[in-house]
Amino acid sequence: MIPRPAAVRVHDGVFTLDDATTLSAEPPLADVAGWLRGVLGPPTGYWLPPGPGNGSGEIALRVDPALAREGYLLDVEPTGVRVIGATPAGVFYGVQTLRQLLPPAVYRAAGTISPPWIIPAMTVADAPRFGWRGCMLDVARHFMPKADVLRFVDLLAMHKLNVLHLHLTDDQGWRLAVPRWPRLVEVGAWRRESMLGARRHATFDGRPHGGFYTREDIAEIVAYAADRYVTVVPEIDMPGHMRAAIAAYPELGNTSATLEVWTGWGISPHVLGVSDLALTFCRDVLDVVCELFPSEYVCIGGDECPPDEWLANAEAKARDAREGLAGPEELQPWFTRQIATHLVARGRRLVGWDEILTGGAPSGATVAAWRGRSATIAPARAGHDVVACPDSSVYLDHRQSTHPDEPVPVGNLLTLEDVYAFDPVPAELDDAEAARVIGVQANVWTEHMDSARVVDYMAFPRLCAVAELAWSGPGHDVGDFSGRLRVHKGRLRAYGVEYHRDSGPLPWQTRPDARGWPR
Ligand code: ACM
Repeated sequence: MIPRPAAVRVHDGVFTLDDATTLSAEPPLADVAGWLRGVLGPPTGYWLPPGPGNGSGEIALRVDPALAREGYLLDVEPTGVRVIGATPAGVFYGVQTLRQLLPPAVYRAAGTISPPWIIPAMTVADAPRFGWRGCMLDVARHFMPKADVLRFVDLLAMHKLNVLHLHLTDDQGWRLAVPRWPRLVEVGAWRRESMLGARRHATFDGRPHGGFYTREDIAEIVAYAADRYVTVVPEIDMPGHMRAAIAAYPELGNTSATLEVWTGWGISPHVLGVSDLALTFCRDVLDVVCELFPSEYVCIGGDECPPDEWLANAEAKARDAREGLAGPEELQPWFTRQIATHLVARGRRLVGWDEILTGGAPSGATVAAWRGRSATIAPARAGHDVVACPDSSVYLDHRQSTHPDEPVPVGNLLTLEDVYAFDPVPAELDDAEAARVIGVQANVWTEHMDSARVVDYMAFPRLCAVAELAWSGPGHDVGDFSGRLRVHKGRLRAYGVEYHRDSGPLPWQTRPDARGWPR
C-alpha cells in the first residue's frame, strides 16, 4: 500500500468480491458508496447493490466519531468488509486502501480479465500525519485541459492527497475567465510561441499556445475534486508574475510600454503597478475567485517580484509617500496587507510563497515555504502556519535522474530517493513550532511540461513518495517503500500513468529538441 498505513495486521483467509457482494452505507456515506460503485463496477462487472446491512458478504461503510479526523479502520474478514471513519473523508481513504488491496487490474476502466477479485483478510488502522497533503499544478505556463485536470484529481485522491493548488496565472498565461475584465482571457490566455528548453538557450518553438477555464469548467473541477475530498486552492500570483494581465490591460503596469504575453521563462521585470486601479483589479479578480472556489485558503503568490519598475515609477513613489512607507521595499508588504484585508473580509485565509515574510506577513497568513528546506523555519517561528514545499526536495520539474536523455534537465538532481528522504518538519523546530507545519506539497511547474503525458512522467513516481511523506508518520525505510512501489507501479500502469521508469525515458519521452540547464 502507498501511502504506508499506520498499522496493519494480516489475518488468515480472503474476502472474495463477486456478483453476490452487496454494499451498505450509513446515510452520510452515500456519496462515498456511490464513488466506490463507480470505480469497482466497471472493471469487475460487480455493481454492489445495496445490502441488508447484516455484515455477511457485504462491504459496510460506517461512521464512528471516536476515530481521528480523516482516519479510518478497515476490517477485511472472509465473511465481509467494514470501513469505518469519523468523517466521510476518512471512509473515503479507507475505501482507497481497500481498492489497493484488490488486484491492480481494478485500476482499469473496464473489461478486465483477471478475476477472482480477492482481498486478503486484514485489519488496517490509519490516519494522516498532515492535514495539508498537496500538489501544486502550474496550468499557467502550459494550459492543462479540463479533462486532464480531472484525471489529475483522481490520481491525487488515489494517493490520499487532499489539496490541488492550481497556479492559474503567470507571465506566460492567464487561465481564469473574469467577467469584468474580459481581455484577461481574450488576450492574456494566449501567447505567440514558447521558449524551447531552458532560458539560457533563447530558442523558441514558433507555435502559439493558450487556453483558459470558463466558470462552468471551474465549477466542474471544484465539484469533482470535492467528491474526492480534494480542495482546490486557487492561486492568482501577484504583484509579480503578472505580465499576461498587463499585456491585456497595460494600465495595470508601471510603464506605457505595450507588452505581449511573455514567450520566455524566468522572472519578468514587468510587475503589477501599485495604483488604485491595480488594487481594484486584484480585488475584482479575488471576488470572482471567492465566488468560484469554496476553499478557505486562497493563494496570492507573492514570489519573485523585482521592485525595479516601482523604483522608477512616479505613482509608486507617490504611493510610498502617501502610505508613509520607508521605501519601495515596503511596497510589496503594503500591497499584501491590502489584499489580505480583502480576503479576510470574505472569510478566507491568505496563502503566499515565502517572500511574503519579507517586511512582515499579515497575521494569519499561511506560508508556502519553497526556497530551500530552511525556508520552513522562519515562518513557523514567526507564528505562521507553513506548508513545506522546498525546491530542494519536492520541485517535480527538476530532473529525476542523471540519464543523458532526461527531457529538458533543469534544476537540481532530485531522485525518487531524494524526495523520499525529505522530512517536512525541520529538526531545528521545537514542538510548538513544529505544530505550525500543517503539511507538505509537491510543486509541478510546467515550463517544460506541455501535456498531461509529460506531467505524468515528471510527477510519477515521485508524487507517490510525497504522498507518503504527507500521510504516513515519520520514519523512512526506502527499501520497504521501493518494494511497495514495485507493486504500486502495476496500479499506475493499469490506470494509464506514463511514469518515469528506472531505466530512464522511453524514446518519445526524451527532448533532444529542447536543451536543459541543470544545476
Ligand atoms: C516559486 O517557485 N517561484 C514559488
